[in-house]
Parts: sequence; C-alpha cells; structure tokens
Amino acid sequence: MTQPGYDALADTYAEMFPDPYQYPIEAHAAAAFAEAAAGRIGRTVDVGCGLGHVAADLAARGLDVIGVDPSPGMLAHARSLHPHVAFSADDASLSTLTDGPIAAILARFSLIHVEPSEVRSTVRRWAARVSAGTPVLVAFQAADEPGPAIAFDHAVAPAWRWHPDEFGEVLAAAGFEESWRIVYRDKNYRFPMAQILAHRR
Ligand SMILES: C[S@@+](CC[C@H](N)C(=O)[O-])C[C@H]1O[C@@H](n2cnc3c(N)ncnc32)[C@H](O)[C@@H]1O
Repeated sequence: MTQPGYDALADTYAEMFPDPYQYPIEAHAAAAFAEAAAGRIGRTVDVGCGLGHVAADLAARGLDVIGVDPSPGMLAHARSLHPHVAFSADDASLSTLTDGPIAAILARFSLIHVEPSEVRSTVRRWAARVSAGTPVLVAFQAADEPGPAIAFDHAVAPAWRWHPDEFGEVLAAAGFEESWRIVYRDKNYRFPMAQILAHRR
C-alpha cells in the first residue's frame, strides 16, 4: 500500500490543484452523489482522496466523510488543508476501514491506479461491505474504444483508462445497478473523462 509517485509530487500537486473540481460538471456529479448519500447510515468513503478537497466539499454538504489514500504525502496535505475532515491511510481495498457501516463510496480518478485485474475484486469487495441502495460514484479517464482497460502514460503513477461500458460491466457484475453516467471532454485534455453513479442492488 504505497504510492511513491504521489509522495514525491504531493507538494507540486497541491500547488497545481487548489480546487476540488477541474470542470463544472464534476461539481454537479459530486452534488448528485451527495444527495444520493444523504441520510444513509454510516460514513461516506472518499477512496484515493488525494488532497482531500472533494472529501471536504462532501463534508460541507452534510455527509460524515472519511478520506482514504495510500500516499502519506497526499494525506499530509489533506490533513493540513482540511483539519475538520477525517483521513486515514488505506487503499481501494479498504482493508483497514473495519469499524462501522459504509454509507456511500466515491472514487474519483483513483481506481485508474489499480491494476485492471484487481479492480473487479476491489469493487466486489465494496459490494460485500455495503447494504442495498448504497451509492457509488466512480470517475476515471475514459477509453474511446470498447474493450479491456488500457495503460496510459500518467504523469505520476502507473494508470489505466477504461471504456465506460467496460467499467459499467464491472459494477454490474459486482452487484451495482447503474443510475447514470456522464462522459465529458475538454479541448485542453487528451482523454475523455467519465463518471458513473451506481447503487448496490
Ligand atoms: C489523481 S489523484 C485524485 C485525487 C482525488 N480523488 C481527486 O478527485 O482530486 C489519485 C489519488 O489516488 C491515490 N491512489 C493511488 N493508488 C491508489 C489505490 N490503489 N487505492 C486508492 N487510492 C489510490 C493517489 O495516492 C492519489 O491521491
């Protein structure tokens, strides 16, 4: 459970990304996720929370949030920037997060760093931990062509892009029913990006 690339670049990352969202549509997606999670019992987990900006936004929207990340450097920034939010060292397996129910799970641009062969079991693990109706929001760099996830040259750590249909299938196979998805593009960024909201059946 290490992330040396993010540790080495955490200070630069914090300077480059002072805001939770790069595009307005991402704020809308997070707001819709927060609405879906509202009133559910337990903590909302921000998987791969990085600098903690999104966790803090969800906390401001009234959710009981914990951000988890495998990079001590990113967590140090998160804790210092958002001292009122809970953060913990963990990866997408959530193996250290054993206390209490999980109300909702958000994983923005973090599962891209999990080997595709492990993503399926990771999502199945989440499904086993949550109750029916639990919302999950995943965001990732998308592939244009259908098929298996493909590696790309991410600046910080090994990473894979997913076609939204392929990721949708991973969620469905684990027991999550898709509610909506968005695919968005920016002329200054080389890949489309996708977000999928699903609920545990
Ligand atoms: C691109 S940043 C995204 C940060 C944040 N989720 C956001 O939306 O701004 C990716 C984050 O995923 C974390 N990460 C890397 N490998 C991970 C893993 N196996 N499980 C969970 N998080 C991971 C990194 O440490 C980093 O903080």
